[in-house]
Amino acid sequence: MIKISPSVLACDFTRLGEEVADIERCGADMVHLDVMDGVFVTNISFGLPVIESLRKKSGMVFDVHLMIDKPERYAERFIKAGADILTFHLEATDEAEELLKLIRSKGAKAAISIKPKTPATAVFPYLELCDMVLVMTVEPGYGGQSLIPETLDKVYEIRREIERRGLFVDIQVDGGITAENAKEATSKGANILVAGSSVFKASDRKIAIDALR
Ligand code: DX5
Ligand code: ZN
Repeated sequence: MIKISPSVLACDFTRLGEEVADIERCGADMVHLDVMDGVFVTNISFGLPVIESLRKKSGMVFDVHLMIDKPERYAERFIKAGADILTFHLEATDEAEELLKLIRSKGAKAAISIKPKTPATAVFPYLELCDMVLVMTVEPGYGGQSLIPETLDKVYEIRREIERRGLFVDIQVDGGITAENAKEATSKGANILVAGSSVFKASDRKIAIDALR
């Protein structure tokens, strides 16, 4: 089954709680929360206090995407704040293996992400420790960009390796996902689609989510 995870980066932040409730009503399976530190990526978004307060308002699955340097410094605190799935970037840490184990031991799902220029094979050593792999389909940092088509070949490579090893690992794609390219992404092996602009900016969000699915 294909799951849809709308990214709040494209929502009206003055009404964050209502925006999240709205996409839940419209059929989203989880909510994607992009944390940016201005170091790993050039943009800054939001952090722990926002997730913590949103947690009090929402029972949705919190899919937290850390775009921060040395995520091992904060992983535990993001889980305490309410992350159900915690994704960090392979490029941001030298401790990927330890961090994946730590995330699972604290009761969250553990996920690793790679930027467009990082090869698919970089995640292979960690697949047994991952609940999900996030393949970035744009350069991380900003919403509203166009999908880089070659990144979908990496989705296929990772899916093939997961199947070859008989594992159950979700593959998420993030960046520039629309109803037009969703089918190609899922046919290459993605099963969770992150969508910021194409959901939050749509005139009818339910139709937008259905169209993606
Ligand atoms: C980009 C973020 C994405 C972004 C997606 O760095 O990781 O989650 O919000 O937004 P769209 O769907 O607009 O590309
Ligand atoms: Zn993201």
